[in-house]
Formats: sequence, C-alpha cells, structure tokens
Amino acid sequence: MKKLCLLGLFVSLASHQVLAATTPPPLENKDAFISNLIGQMTLEEKIGQLRLISIGPEMPRELIRKEIAAGNIGGTFNSITRPENRPMQDAAMRSRLKIPMFFAYDVIHGHRTIFPIPLALASSWDMDAIGLSGRIAAKEAAADSLDITFAPMVDISRDPRWGRTSEGFGEDTYLVSRIAGVMVKAFQGSGANAADSIMASVKHFALYGAVEGGRDYNVVDMSPVKMYQDYLPPYRAAIDAGAGGVMVALNSINGVPATANTWLMNDLLRKEWGFKGLAVSDHGAIFELIKHGVAADGREAAKLAIKAGIHMSMNDTLYGKELPGLLKSGDIQQSDIDNAVRAVLDAKYDMGLFKDPYLRIGKAEDDPVDTYADSRLHRAEARDVARRSLVLLKNQNDTLPLKKGAKIALVGPLAKAPIDMMGSWAAAGKPAQSVTLFDGMNNALSDKSTLIYARGANITSDKKVLDYLNFLNFDAPEVVDDPRPANVLIDEAVKAAKDADVVVAAVGESRGMSHESSSRTDLNIPENQRELIRALKATGKPLVLVLMNGRPLTILEEKEQADAILETWFSGTEGGNAIADVLFGDYNPSGKLPITIPRSVGQIPTYYNHLTIGRPFTPGKPGNYTSQYFDDTTGPLYPFGYGLSYTQFSLSDMALSSTTLNKTGKLDASVTVKNTGKRDGETVVQLYIQDVAGSMIRPIKELKNFQKVMLKAGEQKVVHFSISEDDLKFYNTQLKYAAEPGKFNVQIGLDSEDVTQQSFELL
Ligand code: BGC
Repeated sequence: MKKLCLLGLFVSLASHQVLAATTPPPLENKDAFISNLIGQMTLEEKIGQLRLISIGPEMPRELIRKEIAAGNIGGTFNSITRPENRPMQDAAMRSRLKIPMFFAYDVIHGHRTIFPIPLALASSWDMDAIGLSGRIAAKEAAADSLDITFAPMVDISRDPRWGRTSEGFGEDTYLVSRIAGVMVKAFQGSGANAADSIMASVKHFALYGAVEGGRDYNVVDMSPVKMYQDYLPPYRAAIDAGAGGVMVALNSINGVPATANTWLMNDLLRKEWGFKGLAVSDHGAIFELIKHGVAADGREAAKLAIKAGIHMSMNDTLYGKELPGLLKSGDIQQSDIDNAVRAVLDAKYDMGLFKDPYLRIGKAEDDPVDTYADSRLHRAEARDVARRSLVLLKNQNDTLPLKKGAKIALVGPLAKAPIDMMGSWAAAGKPAQSVTLFDGMNNALSDKSTLIYARGANITSDKKVLDYLNFLNFDAPEVVDDPRPANVLIDEAVKAAKDADVVVAAVGESRGMSHESSSRTDLNIPENQRELIRALKATGKPLVLVLMNGRPLTILEEKEQADAILETWFSGTEGGNAIADVLFGDYNPSGKLPITIPRSVGQIPTYYNHLTIGRPFTPGKPGNYTSQYFDDTTGPLYPFGYGLSYTQFSLSDMALSSTTLNKTGKLDASVTVKNTGKRDGETVVQLYIQDVAGSMIRPIKELKNFQKVMLKAGEQKVVHFSISEDDLKFYNTQLKYAAEPGKFNVQIGLDSEDVTQQSFELL
C-alpha cells in the first residue's frame, strides 16, 4: 500500500514535471516565452530566423512558402499587400514552431500617399507636419500588412553630390536629430505592437552620409570627435525615441566596414547607448565584406558579421551556408547565434506578432476591394505637408504670387512628370495618382485657357545619363524623351512664353538623379535645360523657376536670370496642387533650407556650422593668406535656414536675461518678430550659439533651437528661447561631453547668416 502510494506520488510528480516542461511560459512573460521557444529550435530553424528575403521575380512564391513552412525564413521585404503576405504567414503557421513572419518595406516618405522627400520634409521645419506624414505612412503601411520599415534615414549629408541627400533631412545635427525622434514616434505610434503602427529601424548606422567625395558606398574616415559631435546624434535620437531596429550601413568607418565593426555595433550601439533591438544588415552587405577586403571568403564574412551582432542578413545566403560550419569548428559560439535569434524573436514579439500573427494582415474578407483605390489615400494631408515644405528662394518685384487671370506659359520637362513628382523611394506610390504641376495649376484655374504648356526640353540630352536613369530599377519607363530636336522644343516654349504674361519653368533633376548610387560630379541643372532657361530669359517675360530636385543644385546663373525661384524638391502625390497653392498665393510659403546651397561644386563642403580656423576669410577685406577660393565669391549661394515669404518679417535686437549663466541656471534670449507685410504668414525663428574659446576648436555657430511662428499681417510676437548648460555641451578630445566656462555668442535670425547677436559667460 505504502509502495503504491509512493508510486502514486512519483507518478504525479513525474506528470507534473512533464507538464512543466511542455507548458510554455505565458505570452505575457516575454523573456521566458522567447527563451522557451529558442530552447525548442533546431540549428536550422534558428538560422532560418536570421534570413531576411526580398520578394521579387527571382524568388517564386511557391518556393518562398515552402521555405517559410520549413522554418527557413525569418522575414521578407518588398511584398506589400495583404493578399500577398497572408499566404506567407499561413505558411509560417504551418511550420513546426509556428513562429510568425514579419513583413518589411522601405516606407521612407509615405506608403501609398507619397509625402515630400525627406529633404523637403525637413524644409518645413514643422515637427507636427513631419510627424503627421510619418503617422499616415505607418497607418497606410500597417493597413497593407507591413510590420516594419527601414526608416527613418537620418544620415547627415553635407555633400550634395551624394544622391541619397534626398533621402535624409539635411546637413544639421540638431535639426536632423529632432526629426529622427519625431519620425520614430510617428511610425511606432502608441507602440510598435499596435495594429496601426510599424516598427522603425533607423538607418544607415553609421555615418553613411559622409562617404568620401559624396560618391555612394565610398569609405568614411572621420575623427571620433566629429562622429560624436556631428554625425552620431541623429541615430542616438532615434534610438532614444524607441526605434526597435537599426539598419547597418554599407560603408566602412575608419577602415572597418560597419557590418563587421564590433566597436560600432557592440561597444557604441549596445554597451554605450544601451540598444537592445534588432540589427539588420543592408542589402547583401555581409557578402560585400569580401569586396571590402576584410574577409577572405564567405565563411569569414559570416563570422565577422555575426560576431559584430548583425542579427539579420538581408538578401544574403551566407548565414545559411556558413553558420553551421563555423559553429561546428568552434569559430563562433552557440550564444552568437542565439543572441541574434533572440533579437529577431524579441522584435517580432514587440511588433505584436506572437499575440496575433495576422495583426496587420487581418481577415481576407476585410481586404480592400481595390488596394490602389484613391479613397485609401490621404490627399488633403499630403497637400498641406507639401506646401509647408516649399522654399521661396527669390521673389523680385513680387513676381509671385501669380494672378489667376494672367496668361501663363508653363514649360519644362518636369511640368508633366508624375513619376518625378513622387521622388525616389516612393514606396507603394502610383505615378498615375500623383498630381503634376500642370494638373495642379489647371485645378487652380477656372479659365483653363490661360495656361499654355510646352515641354521646352528633355531632362537631359546626355545619352549616357539617360541610359543610366532608365537602367535604374524603377517603374518603367522612368524617363521618357520627347524625340523632337532640342531647338524645336525650345522654339515651341519661346513661342508660348511670348504669348504669355509670365513664364513658369519646371526644371531640375529627374528623381533617379537623386537616388541611391546616383552621385554627381556636377550639380548644375542639365545643360539642355539651362539652354531653355536662357531662351526664356531672352523673351523678357517675367520668369519663375520651379525647381524640382533631390539635392541642392548650383543655380548661380539661374539666380540672376529668374525673377522668382521656388525650391520644391520632390513634393509627393499632391505636389502639383501644393505648388499651385503657393504659386497662386493660396498658401504663403514658409519653408527654410535644411541644407546650404553652394555656388559651385568646387566649394563643397559648404555646411554652415563648420569649425573655426586660424585665417578666416573676412568679407570686404580681400587681402592675401586667408581661407578662400580666389576664383569665386566666398560663401554660399543660399545659406542654411534661408527661405522667403510673401510677407516680410522684422526682428528686434535680442534681449538676454543676463550676461552670465550658472551651471544650474537658465538664460532667456528673446526677440520680437513682427510681420511687417500685408499678408498673414509663418516664419522660423532660429537660435544659434557659438562657443568662443574652448579646449578645442568649435563651430562658428550651431543651431540649438527654433520656433515656427504664425503671424497675422501687422502682428508681432515675442519669441523666447531658454538656454541652459546642456545647450553648451560638446564632446572634447577625450570624448567627454561637457560644457566649458567662458564666453558664448548667441544669435537669433530667420536664417543662419542674417542674425542679431548677444554674448554671455558660462560661470
Ligand atoms: C538600401 C537600403 C534599403 C535596402 C532595401 C539598400 O540598397 O541601401 O536603404 O533599405 O536596399 O531596399
């Protein structure tokens, strides 16, 4: 009996233990839940989770589903509808452990509704507008079953030869950092696990914008101080805002590719910054370690990448091929693989996918009847954000706004360019849904006969450039030429101009000219378009240039020729309507440059916040042996922070609450800004600070704050900025982040050059 009882006890204990081993920890307990899952995974299943596969023609759907069901794929990108992604998630649910897939995409400036390119968004200096663009992008992407975006792209770009300048938020560390935080919060909304949110993965970590010579994929060689002070803060801001992922840059940094860079990925990102999220390689970057010359073969490349903590390998077979052998030989440890798997599973957990793998896919019966339906777009928001991003560079004799009764000649290769209007990285945007400038102006006019159109020129007459642009993997055909000879096109445009009261010329770049790998040695408007502008100027008619481009262009000659210049970048789905709003004065422009416009390529770099030097050029004192190019005027064509309005603003002198600041205190710097013109309008009041003498050289000024203010005609407002020791801190030669006592100059202006100044001392 006793024996039996004991047996009974044994049996019940044993069954309890079996129960404990098979009952998974509750979903609420994230760490235990994931650990338990990892404990059940085979090596193949683990490595499968590290593979991020691009859906394209080279990957038949049948095969993909088979691979997913076998547990060989962790996530995909480039498949962007619910009906496409549902069968893949179904396949994952058929896999042994039912680990959900995630679906990724480059949602950079909108998803179906395309907002202005990031450089244009930055031109708005309007954090609400930028945030709105990100939130709508997230909602649209999530509604299309996407879980994660490879954005925001926060690479500081100080060399406009780099084609990806269009994709970033400009040259300034403070402005880009502010936007980085706003975009991450907008994408992730109430949390990356919300049904209407997508996870943000900030890119390209790190320093990609500093590729030597602005040539894409080139090396980056940079001092630690410059990294910490100027280039790293935007990534840090995105991570501090909660970005769940990081995409690792393609470039090398001081001799070590980011993808193999243990200092960058482990010491800085994880240990120093505390990042716990997902690190995704860029496209094929692990294989490129061989090309970089730091890995002898695929085996070494995979080892370097996994050791650097690159969790997911984007479109690269090396992890699958090499990790088992590396593990067997002891070159890598089980923990290297498990850490990467944990990061992937954590991210999926944070996206809410373990709770509901169909969170963003939804039920088939709820799928949109027409994925591309116009009713799914957010046109009103896109139009408003777009008009806030336009920068008025010149407006001689009040040429703008145009009168609606006037006869207008609209010319130029970009006047009817729906693809270009969206800019590059236009996600799921459809050219047929984007409003061209011609459409937008037509929409604004009740008497359509007052608008005469002539193409005037092709994008380029350089066959090599054209071939390059059409080789890029965009929606075909990317750039369509008018086959007529250049002079015939120009003659037609000149005739239209002569018949009109005013000429509007839409000129600049096609979107592919400012894209990944599209670096330029020359930042002029293509020569054949310049010929058109010259011919239009010769008619003597007032000439308005509407610039479309993804980077600053050197428009020295055009600045003289044009009566008015509106920089529109690439302004998205509603671009044409937004530009027409500004051209006709239905909206008063308020954008400011987030990047300096140089006079010539030879001047680059021209970023405003450069370091002080021993022999600075002094305007008006031409003498020898100062820092300048003797063959051109010193200084930019248009400075950082510049942008006009249809009204005028005046700034009073600055009032500073004290001439000294304690380490724990605060200073108030204020100006009165007055709208002295006849129209209501907005402007951006900008605060700059200069550390006059430090333990090392410091920038001539740095943006530290700004406020966008709306003023009715005649209205004035006092704008206050609070300054504390934090605003004065910098990374010194020991990389210690601290402020140093001494004199500081404070400047307030409506751009970075035209400022009012006061000084104080930090005690
Ligand atoms: C780009 C990334 C992008 C990836 C996936 C790469 O070529 O550098 O920015 O996220 O492709 O489309």
